[in-house]
Amino acid sequence: MPGLTLQHPIRTLDNQLLFPSGTLLTEETLNAVIDSHRADYYQTCPLLFYGSVREDCLNFLSLPPYATIFQDKKEINDLFSLLETVHLPTLILQSLDYFRQHDLYTYTHVLMVFALSTLLAKDLIPDYEECIRLSATGPTHDTGKVYVPLHILKKTKPLTKTERGFLEHHAAAGYVLLSYYCKNTQHLACKVAFDHHERRDGSGYPQGILLKDPLVEIMAVSDVYDALIMPRPYRSSAYDNRTALEEITEMAKQNKIGWDVVKALIAHNRKSHPPYKEMTISAEKRGTPPSYNVYGIIAEETDPRDRTE
Ligand SMILES: [Fe+2]
Ligand SMILES: [Fe+2]
Repeated sequence: MPGLTLQHPIRTLDNQLLFPSGTLLTEETLNAVIDSHRADYYQTCPLLFYGSVREDCLNFLSLPPYATIFQDKKEINDLFSLLETVHLPTLILQSLDYFRQHDLYTYTHVLMVFALSTLLAKDLIPDYEECIRLSATGPTHDTGKVYVPLHILKKTKPLTKTERGFLEHHAAAGYVLLSYYCKNTQHLACKVAFDHHERRDGSGYPQGILLKDPLVEIMAVSDVYDALIMPRPYRSSAYDNRTALEEITEMAKQNKIGWDVVKALIAHNRKSHPPYKEMTISAEKRGTPPSYNVYGIIAEETDPRDRTE
């Protein structure tokens, strides 16, 4: 990692400063911080038995389009068997409580990204152990959003550059937090938190690197898909499923993501669930995006005292 200058400070979940803003974050600086807390012990908990994760997953998976994607109940049983094997620091899992209480969208999103990415990994990654590693990353990929003010996460109007910077900070913040509590910068959950907004053509953030890791790419596609099909404050409605899949196909055409993961996603959206290698993708665009959508639009900076939401 060449290094990333932090635009905002990063604190532990009990508010100890780890890195002030302006720090050059590298694997070395992060390892030094981890080593200085090496003796601290953080209790872990299996994801499946944390809070109401199991019941909530079952509820969310019974709704469209996930009800079609997971119509084979064996897939859900496999998913839960994986969750039982994945342990994460309880302090990290407590961020799920925060989102469940304050930002239900993010809570639903991280669980569904977990479910979908694990399913896609079973198609695309031959090693089952890798699926287990990936399944640990869904519920934690947006952990850094605990530091994004709720009024930014829930804003219905375009974000200012400063607000956008806060939002994008969640990738580095999640990477640091997960590395700190797992005491390992190489844990896949840390890598996914850091890189899930990167793209194959280098157009993503926070580092603008070329997305190469197949597991991270599966997570990135699951992340975008779920964000499109869910209602979000910054647009008038969710994308319908067809239009969402067309948007994802467009990303593959622009070489932002790879074709195999797109084919696997579309195959699972077909009732017959054909093998992804047999999928041919139509270039025709027939969907209708939501009429109001300010995602990606940057607004003029305003005086924070004028803020109305
Ligand atoms: Fe994210
Ligand atoms: Fe996300």
